Amino acid sequence: MNFKKIPSFIILFICFFAVQSIAQARDVLLEKNQLLLTPNHGGDGSAWGLSDCSGCHVLRNIHNTVVKVKGIVEQTGYASCAGCHGQNGTSIKRECVLCHNEHLLAKSPIMQDIKNHNFNVLEDSVLTDKDCLACHDASDMDGEFEPAVDLKHYSLPKSIDLPYRNGSEFCLRCHNNTQQQAGYEMQARFKRDPLVRMAVNYQHIDIHGERKGEGDRTYTGLREGYEYKTVVDCTDCHAMHGTHNKKLIVDRTDAGVSLLKESLRLAPIHIDTSANNYAQLCVTCHDSEDKVEESEQGTGNGLSGVHQSGGSCIECHAHGMAAQTGL
Ligand code: HEC
Ligand code: HEC
Ligand code: HEC
Ligand code: HEC
Ligand code: HEC
Ligand code: HEC
Ligand code: HEC
Ligand code: HEC
Repeated sequence: MNFKKIPSFIILFICFFAVQSIAQARDVLLEKNQLLLTPNHGGDGSAWGLSDCSGCHVLRNIHNTVVKVKGIVEQTGYASCAGCHGQNGTSIKRECVLCHNEHLLAKSPIMQDIKNHNFNVLEDSVLTDKDCLACHDASDMDGEFEPAVDLKHYSLPKSIDLPYRNGSEFCLRCHNNTQQQAGYEMQARFKRDPLVRMAVNYQHIDIHGERKGEGDRTYTGLREGYEYKTVVDCTDCHAMHGTHNKKLIVDRTDAGVSLLKESLRLAPIHIDTSANNYAQLCVTCHDSEDKVEESEQGTGNGLSGVHQSGGSCIECHAHGMAAQTGL
């Protein structure tokens, strides 16, 4: 193009417009606190529907304000773009495991074991991008986990649709028996199966849910970080990304038990729950003040403080149990 032929006011006009569209583009992104591209992409929508990101964006020029992201995107290249920015109106693949794997982001999340929330109780298999997306479809990947932003929004048609206040609300959008999500339906395997009863359990029966404890029982005592009347999140006890324990019980404190004081949580304390002996789980939060029954006996992971350390606990402590003290 011969620039000499274009009057300078037109060039100025074009520059003004380019600057405006950059400003607009970023506003769209920031205002929603999310990274997904919208049909305004390119400022005027001219870049919406295009799949070749490399055609217009040069790796080394982008992400100068987001240090955490810059390095890993340069390392993984254009295959990574849609993971964070969405499909841009095309059908390009959204990849997650490309970065979230034991080599690049080993602790975010911890997924060292094969048992995980793969939406199938009968089978164990590694999590795929599709599984990640079923739970996180618009994460801002800022290194801080916020349930309302980082978890996929599922609505319940017969309820007021508010953002999640905690992770448990997200779980209960599926683990209920009246309003399950299309594509993720579940059936009870036995009477009062927590798979479909958790909403009722958590809202009305379980002591770790909304029902309040008083902290005045025989074996009372909680470790620093937890208090009586605290609602305990599902993922304090259940690992979504990987564990060796059945029923997805967490197998190390740094993959759950979120409120526990750091020195203990990050140690981490290991948890094994074979034969329905949950002592190693319970003892990460509970520590009986009065030394009664077996509460001074070690549970095998270095901690003691539960009234029973051997044998099965499930006949007295299970979800939805109103007798004894339940769960
Ligand atoms: C035809 C050129 C073109 C293509 C192809 C393109 N973009 Fe863009 N993109 C732009 C322009 C122009 C802007 C606005 C100016 C700026 O911020 O760089 C933009 C802005 C963005 C932004 C900032 C937010 C926004 O809403 O404007 C992101 C993120 C982005 N592009 C990602 C991508 C990804 C991912 C791809 C591949 C799927 C892609 N772009 C393909 C031209 C393009
Ligand atoms: C790990 C998540 C992640 C991936 C992967 C990613 N981005 Fe981004 N991108 C971000 C974040 C975070 C911002 C900053 C958003 C803000 O400032 O609001 C951003 C901003 C941008 C912007 C606009 C501002 C800037 O920094 O230039 C463009 C353009 C962009 N990304 C393009 C791309 C392209 C092209 C790819 C693939 C090569 C890609 N992004 C991959 C997270 C990511
Ligand atoms: C059944 C839903 C579910 C699935 C499937 C799932 N996640 Fe998560 N993820 C969660 C929940 C809930 C949290 C917050 C509690 C926690 O950290 O366990 C979380 C937390 C995270 C975190 C931040 C916490 C940390 O440990 O740093 C990352 C990163 C993450 N998930 C990535 C992924 C990736 C990648 C996949 C696919 C390989 C995936 N998730 C699959 C539900 C899920
Ligand atoms: C280019 C690499 C890259 C890709 C691709 C990527 N992520 Fe991330 N993700 C990151 C980084 C970096 C962080 C921040 C980690 C940290 O500092 O703890 C992160 C953080 C997260 C978090 C934790 C919440 C938060 O806001 O930090 C979740 C959840 C997550 N990613 C899910 C996904 C999912 C789901 C996909 C695929 C759709 C995906 N990621 C694709 C690099 C990536
Ligand atoms: C999108 C729907 C959905 C969401 C959200 C969801 N689940 Fe699930 N969950 C399922 C399905 C489907 C199964 C498998 C049911 C089957 O195979 O019959 C399952 C299975 C489980 C299992 C049994 C797994 C096993 O292998 O024994 C547990 C425990 C569980 N979910 C806990 C959670 C927790 C905790 C959360 C929230 C962090 C959560 N789920 C969020 C749909 C969901
Ligand atoms: C992540 C921490 C955590 C774990 C793990 C945990 N608990 Fe708790 N537990 C609590 C908290 C916090 C309370 C107080 C809840 C309340 O008052 O609403 C509590 C309360 C209780 C109560 C009722 C106490 C009262 O005063 O009414 C019982 C019973 C109980 N837990 C049993 C168990 C059993 C059994 C296990 C192991 C299967 C277990 N807990 C695992 C944190 C935990
Ligand atoms: C025979 C029934 C029974 C069995 C089996 C049982 N518990 Fe309990 N557990 C109880 C009862 C009852 C209470 C509440 C006592 C009270 O109300 O004073 C309780 C309370 C607890 C508490 C809560 C302490 C608090 O904060 O008040 C924990 C933790 C606990 N049990 C752990 C375990 C573990 C771990 C096992 C298995 C190794 C187990 N229990 C097996 C009946 C049982
Ligand atoms: C204090 C720890 C704790 C908390 C909090 C917790 N669970 Fe559990 N969960 C357990 C234990 C222990 C079992 C095994 C005993 C039983 O089946 O009731 C279990 C069993 C389950 C099962 C049956 C799994 C299977 O494969 O049979 C599901 C589903 C489940 N929980 C979902 C949830 C959901 C959803 C939440 C939150 C709303 C939650 N749990 C909160 C400890 C916990």
